[in-house]
Amino acid sequence: MEVSPSLLAANFANLTPDIEMINSSESDYLHLDVMDGVFVPNISFGFPVLGSVSKICRKPLDVHLMIVEPDKWISQVRDLGAEIMNVHYEACTHLHSVVSRIHQAGMKAGVTLNPATPVSLLSDIIEDVDLVLLMSVNPGFGGQKFIPNTLKKTKELLNLIKSSNSKAKIEIDGGVNETTGAALKEAGADILVAGSYVFGAQNPHERISLLKNL
Ligand code: DX5
Ligand code: ZN
Repeated sequence: MEVSPSLLAANFANLTPDIEMINSSESDYLHLDVMDGVFVPNISFGFPVLGSVSKICRKPLDVHLMIVEPDKWISQVRDLGAEIMNVHYEACTHLHSVVSRIHQAGMKAGVTLNPATPVSLLSDIIEDVDLVLLMSVNPGFGGQKFIPNTLKKTKELLNLIKSSNSKAKIEIDGGVNETTGAALKEAGADILVAGSYVFGAQNPHERISLLKNL
């Protein structure tokens, strides 16, 4: 299992120790949640903060844009050196074009689905994306309860990927812990995002390791 700890649950008054913890951990990525107060009812952090974080983080950056018109920010995300740029299906009228432009910028393209958006809507884009991020909570806040229907969606997505020429990875975001993580592994998840489960722990390294070895 790959693990992408979400910085949303870190100490915003002093990010350096939390990023150093990530650097020295077994995590595969650092997940960065950008919110605009329009697409989701919250505002997290923007490019000035991401720029500083990217300078000290040695893990690949997994950027999750919970914003309207995410295509306006492709070059800024590229300039961070991000590995993955995740855009919401619900925020892109011309998704095929956005995915192509993310690829042209040299990044992996991820498409994110809100809990009520069906996996079947991806059938005509699945071969073009590197990753699908399924929201297992309504986006905007950390520390929410996992929505069990995500397990069914994960299996449906795995079937869609297998029945096409897609090499897309399946990433899940929201309410991940060792219990939901184990069920998600069983359902076919490749990458688990975890915010409060990792940063809210006495021993974050242990939690990352636990998810990695599910
Ligand atoms: C929520 C964000 C998540 C969030 C997950 O909108 O996309 O990445 O940090 O937090 P937890 O793991 O606490 O549910
Ligand atoms: Zn996220």
